[in-house]
This record gives sequence, structure tokens and C-alpha cells, in this order.
Amino acid sequence: MSAPVKHPMNPWNHDVAKDEKDLIDVQVDGEWVKMPRGLNVVEVAHRMNKFIPHYCYHPKLSVVGNCRMCLFEMGTPKMGPDRQPVLGKDGKPEIAWMPRPQIGCATSITPGMGIRTDSALVKDCRNGVMEFLLINHPLDCPICDQAGECKLQEYSVEYGTGGSRFVEDKVKKPKNVDLGERIVLDDERCILCSRCVRFSSELTKDSVLGFVNRGSHSTLTAYPGKSFDNDYSLNTVDICPVGALTSKDFRFQMRVWFLKETKSLCASCGTGCNVTIGSRERKVYRLTPRENESVNSHWMCDHGRLNFHYLEDQNRLQQPLLRAAGEQFPGSWVDALNRAAEGLKKVKPQEIAVVASARMTNEELFVLQRMLEELGVTQVDTVNRPGQADQFLRHADGNPNTRGAELLGMSQGGRKFSSWAGEIAAGKIKALLVLGGEDVVKAGIPDSALAKLEMLIASGILSNATTRAAQVVLPGAGFAEKSGSMVNVHGRLQRLSRAITAPGMAREDWMILRDLRETLTGGNSLHSIEDVWKAMAAAVPALQGLSWAKIGDQGIDLGSFQPAAVPAQP
Ligand code: SF4
Ligand code: FES
Repeated sequence: MSAPVKHPMNPWNHDVAKDEKDLIDVQVDGEWVKMPRGLNVVEVAHRMNKFIPHYCYHPKLSVVGNCRMCLFEMGTPKMGPDRQPVLGKDGKPEIAWMPRPQIGCATSITPGMGIRTDSALVKDCRNGVMEFLLINHPLDCPICDQAGECKLQEYSVEYGTGGSRFVEDKVKKPKNVDLGERIVLDDERCILCSRCVRFSSELTKDSVLGFVNRGSHSTLTAYPGKSFDNDYSLNTVDICPVGALTSKDFRFQMRVWFLKETKSLCASCGTGCNVTIGSRERKVYRLTPRENESVNSHWMCDHGRLNFHYLEDQNRLQQPLLRAAGEQFPGSWVDALNRAAEGLKKVKPQEIAVVASARMTNEELFVLQRMLEELGVTQVDTVNRPGQADQFLRHADGNPNTRGAELLGMSQGGRKFSSWAGEIAAGKIKALLVLGGEDVVKAGIPDSALAKLEMLIASGILSNATTRAAQVVLPGAGFAEKSGSMVNVHGRLQRLSRAITAPGMAREDWMILRDLRETLTGGNSLHSIEDVWKAMAAAVPALQGLSWAKIGDQGIDLGSFQPAAVPAQP
């Protein structure tokens, strides 16, 4: 496992022992094993590929022990009259079992401890806890958004009795409570595990949530007059084990079992939080954080989580556009690429400038680099995009791949770009290729300067002032519609994976650049994204020895990666 992030969003690490080498003997379901001192019983079972069901316990939150689901049978070494452990035939201490089960989340292991995770007593007690939790829970699974990923539903099947002895009326509690901008609460579904309360008070330090009333009338609520809408609020929807907290954006949109899950990255800032894209057919329905202890632990910000609806924006570019008689008309890819190539060939290489983008993948930047080398074009830069940094995950760099663009020599940090408005006005730059959906008008090149260009080619996913001024528009793919790799602000190389296909005639940008390169220079040996990766890994020293598989789902730290030894030349 990669090293856990030292971060305000990771204050508790119950799944990581302080000293992995300080091992003690414990017996788990009859088997003696060595485990790091300090781990709790839930984590010890997890490391043995066993599972102790739990609701309130979460490895990144404090332990409160209030759901009682994680019961296990506990034993201590049997002591002889000489106050020494009594040894059995196997030379290991005999265990004296306690008559009453204990909770695994709040019990740290001690030397010689006995743990039974699945004994008759444990099963019987779990049945009781499940029956108790379901007493007041509404049986509304058919209309509950959590159905399909609800822990109450799953544990009912695994650990429940299938029946209830409760004949009284269920307690009525508030439903459809508007907790804030993005979350709705159904109090009848809440099992009072307090995960959401602890998340907001311990991690985001925004103590808005709490319980009121006693016993079976206990109810989760927001502090009067307060609204639960900090920028990490939707993480509570993920960690709520039941359907009590639902996202306004996702609720009632799609049953979760219909969603295809794709492991990818958030592209909304330089942190590169690992996410799972939930999609069906050609539509993204949600992004949820994917655990990566070297990047985002279990969390992501609400801004990044909801920043995918633009993929379906009505301004989406879906077919190539060509300008004729002052108007833009839809055209074929062949016509658009030919027109772009003609325009670039008409001017000298030193009269071409390229606005690359730190939103592009390494693969796209590499194909661009090859093309520019072949053309002899040296004027290339990216546009800075300031992000809204916070003390948690959001970074001041609003681009997801600034480090990748630097690694591939496609970025000068915006320094070159800053002089281009003047150079265009002075007639020194005659052709401009704008990639990655950058809007150079917004970035400081006025319309009047763009009008002086002999050729303006723009590629992107949404119509903007630059695409509207372009002679050729090449419709590209959004972050969920393409595969590739990016390097986050901490130097971690990570994989972006395609979840859906781009709409209409839009294409992945590496393909657009490959075909433009072929039209311009004839140079092409890159037929698949794997070809691009292989050529890039061979050409870029920092990537040598790396393969797509080696990057894996969790990425790889380029700083600590040791390139494979290059054989000495004979
Ligand atoms: Fe737990 Fe969900 Fe209730 Fe919060 S709303 S206390 S996370 S069950
Ligand atoms: Fe241990 Fe809730 S998980 S008491």
C-alpha cells in the first residue's frame, strides 16, 4: 500500500499501524497470526481477508462504537497458578473466552488475544443488532436511492434473520429535510451511526450536524439556522451506510446497479483526485471518490464531483466546423483536417504559435510534440488557470496536468503566451493552433488580434469566443470520454480512463492530433493509445521503464520511481 497522505482530511488512520514491525501474536478464528500492535479487531480481520460487519466505524474517522454491529467474541490467554499463560499442545497459549461479545472497532489487539469473528454467539448477537436497527427503519428499498449499495440491505441478507417480532407502529421522523444546497436527509432511514456528524466536525471542521432527542426518537438535524453545504458535504452521502443522506444531483436519476463503473481521475484541479465514474450508455451520472492514500484518501470536493454536467452542455461541439464567407459550416473530418493543414503550411514555422493545454493528457501532448518537431514549430505554451485552493484537497492550479505539460516541454508557464497578443497584432504570428478547449480571448488575446490571423484552428469541447472566431473547429473529447495519463501537482503519474464515448463526431484529442500530423507531415506510427504510450515512455527520460500496467489504478510517484537500468551501449 502507498504511504498515507499527511493531511487535514486524514487525521485518523486506524487501518495503518504506527509501527508495522512491532508484531504481536493473536489468534483469529483458531489461526495464530502476527499482527501490528495497535490495530483494532475490525482491521485485523480485514487483513486476514475476513469481514466484520460495521456501520459506525470508518478508518478515517474517530471511533465511537455506537452501532454495535462489529461484535466479536474475545478471549485472553488462560493464566496458570504461576501467573504464566497455560500452553496448549501446539505450544501456543490456551484462550479463556469472555461470555459477552465485544465491539471490534473499539478494541485494539493485545498479545495472545483470541478473536472469533463468526461463532454461534457472534451470529446470534448480530441477528439481534440487525433486528433492532430495522425496528424503526422504513422498508422503502424500492424507492430508496441507496438500494443496491445500502449496508443495511446487504447486512440484512448476510446477518439478519429475515423476520421481525416488532408489531408496534414505527416512529415517524422528518422526511425530505433540505440540509443544504446539495443534500437531502430522510431521518426515518438514519441509523444514527454519526459518521456524517464526525466527518463534518473532525475533517471539515464545520460542525453543523448533530442529534436531538433521546432513545428511538433520536434524530439527525442541522443546527438551527445553519445549512450543511461546505465544499466537501457530498462525502457524507458516500459514507452514510444507508439512504438517509442523498445527493440532490444524483437522487432518482439512476439505479446504481445499472451504472458502469470506470476508475479514472477528476480533472477539475491539479490534485487529480482518484474517482469512479458512474455512467450508463453515453451519459455520466455521478463521480465518487476512489480511495488513494497518496492523493485524496477517501474524499473529493463537491466542486470536482459535480463538474461533469458540461459534457452534456447545449454548447457542446459535436462536428467539425469550417469557415466560409464569414460563417461557420459543419464539415467532414477530412475537410477540416485538410483545411487546417493547408492553413498551417501556407505560413512559415516561426509564424505559427500553439496554445497547448494543461488539460490535455500526456499522450495528446506527446503527439503534439512530435508534430511540432516535424514542422519546426517552437512557439508553444499553455494558459494558466487559477483554481480555488482550500486547506483540504482543492489546489490553486486549476489545470489537471500542468506537470505533464512541463515534463513534455509543452508549457512555459504562460510566459511565452503573454507576448502573443502583441506578436499577432504586429503580424509576426500568422497562424494560431489552440488546443484543449482553451479560450485565448478570455486569456487576453482580443478578438481584433484574432481577426488578423491568416489561420486560427481551435479544438475543444464547448463553443467559446475562440472557437467562434476560428477558421477550423475540431471537436474534442471531455475527461470522461478519453483515456490517457496525467501528472498531478505532486508529481504523481496517474491514469485517466474513458467511461463513455464522445458525442456526435467529436473524437479523442490524441486521434485528432495524430490525423492532423499525418495530414501535415505524413509522419505516423501511432495507431493506438498504447502505441503513443510506448513511444512516449521510450522518448521521455522520466517515463523510461514505465508501462501502462505499472502505473496501475493508484498511479506512481515519478519522484521516487527508479527508471529501469539502460543497458550499456556495446
Ligand atoms: Fe449515519 Fe447516515 Fe444517519 Fe449520518 S445520516 S448518522 S451517516 S446513518
Ligand atoms: Fe463498531 Fe459500530 S462499527 S460499534
